[in-house]
Amino acid sequence: MAESLHISAGDYSGDLPIAEGAIRATGLSAVPTELGPLTSYDPGFVNTAACRSAITYIDGDAGILEHRGYPIEELAEHSTFLEVAYLLINGELPTASELEGWDEEVNRHRLVHENVHEIIRAFRYDAHPMAKLMASVASLMTFYPSSRRISDAESRKLNSFRLLGKMPTLAAAAFRHSIGRHPVYPSDELGYVENFMAMLFQSQQRVWRADPRLTRALEVLFILHADHEQNCSTTAVRTVASSGNDLYTSCGAGIGALFGPLHGGANEAVLRMLREIGSLDRVPEFIEGIKGGNGRLMGFGHRVYKNYDPRAKVIKKAVDDVFEVRGTNPLLDIALELEKIALNDEYFVSRKLYPNVDFYSGLIYEALNFPSEMFTVLFAVPRTAGWIAHWQEQLTDPDQRIIRPKQLYTGSDRRPYLPVGDR
Ligand code: ACO
Repeated sequence: MAESLHISAGDYSGDLPIAEGAIRATGLSAVPTELGPLTSYDPGFVNTAACRSAITYIDGDAGILEHRGYPIEELAEHSTFLEVAYLLINGELPTASELEGWDEEVNRHRLVHENVHEIIRAFRYDAHPMAKLMASVASLMTFYPSSRRISDAESRKLNSFRLLGKMPTLAAAAFRHSIGRHPVYPSDELGYVENFMAMLFQSQQRVWRADPRLTRALEVLFILHADHEQNCSTTAVRTVASSGNDLYTSCGAGIGALFGPLHGGANEAVLRMLREIGSLDRVPEFIEGIKGGNGRLMGFGHRVYKNYDPRAKVIKKAVDDVFEVRGTNPLLDIALELEKIALNDEYFVSRKLYPNVDFYSGLIYEALNFPSEMFTVLFAVPRTAGWIAHWQEQLTDPDQRIIRPKQLYTGSDRRPYLPVGDR
């Protein structure tokens, strides 16, 4: 196994040490080129590690996802979302009393200041709930100005509890605003996920009772979405944190990144796609269209997984549980047929395109009565656990600096300014 990378360019000849499977990109700058020190060009950071991280391990070729060493399948089967959040943020699974204290502390912070509800109310009724979530999360910094003391470990901890606690409250308030209903206040009687569902679906007259199978299905989805190492939104959180920002400002940016259809918005796009296909007999024609360059098969493909996304496997099972309670959806048959054809088609096989976490999650959310605009919000709530863990890791890593990539300049050579009349 090579322990260094030998580089020879022009008069230069030297070795860059390889450690942890990587070279230090700054070492490249010792190599002269005609345009200056050698650099690496990596749009989309496909092969660039921007940090060292101990939170989540992924082997994309083998379809493995582990948090702090624990396989996602085991966490999804045995754990609760708040326990996984503890694991991500603190590095170890909690003891029974640690877990009790943690749950209590998070749940104690579920209420939001009334003015935050005013911020949500100020939006138009048809505003996308992700915009309301982004604005309300970013606004929390102004309610907790001491959150700017990011080098104070106690302040970081307190604001982590606050954000974890408040995310479901904000998400539910954003949803209820779109349907013209008052926010529902959190209940001390209910656990994290059940309380979230009650804040979404409770009506004034009737006490809302969740079927425990549905609550568990949502909890499993929360666990599956809690973290995914250096994905686009986590990178956004780390980037914003790197200039010295508080948790709320950093996670506000994460929510923005997650909103995009190539990231968290994909499951919303999957349902749109399934509806557009409409019937089983149109599936082959649709697949041919994709292969001919007519869009992408949403919910397929992943930057890291070149195998079946392990989260998609767990979700496929949860789909069965939810449909057992709620009855089946014809769109599931279309999804299954798409998957069957794509997994046997040379175009998808050769590009290693497999179903990702979003391929089936939208079907579950729809069966749980969520409108499709809420799907990305349902991703943002649990991903907050991962964002907090990475925000903290970013701020406490002595290797880290402000994130500021290089560019390869492709613009004009230097030229004199021409007055407007002379152009
Ligand atoms: N359907 C059809 N073709 C695809 C798809 C797809 N879903 N995804 C990738 N390809 C093709 C590309 O056209 C490209 O083909 P080419 O080599 O002939 O040009 C090749 O596969 C490689 O694709 P890239 O875009 O280079 O892959 P990248 O790693 O940059 O993108 C991404 C990953 C964004 C997830 C992509 O697969 C995609 O757009 N998928 C659909 C959207 C989606 O489901 N996103 C959710 C991701 S999971 C998450 O964020 C939680």
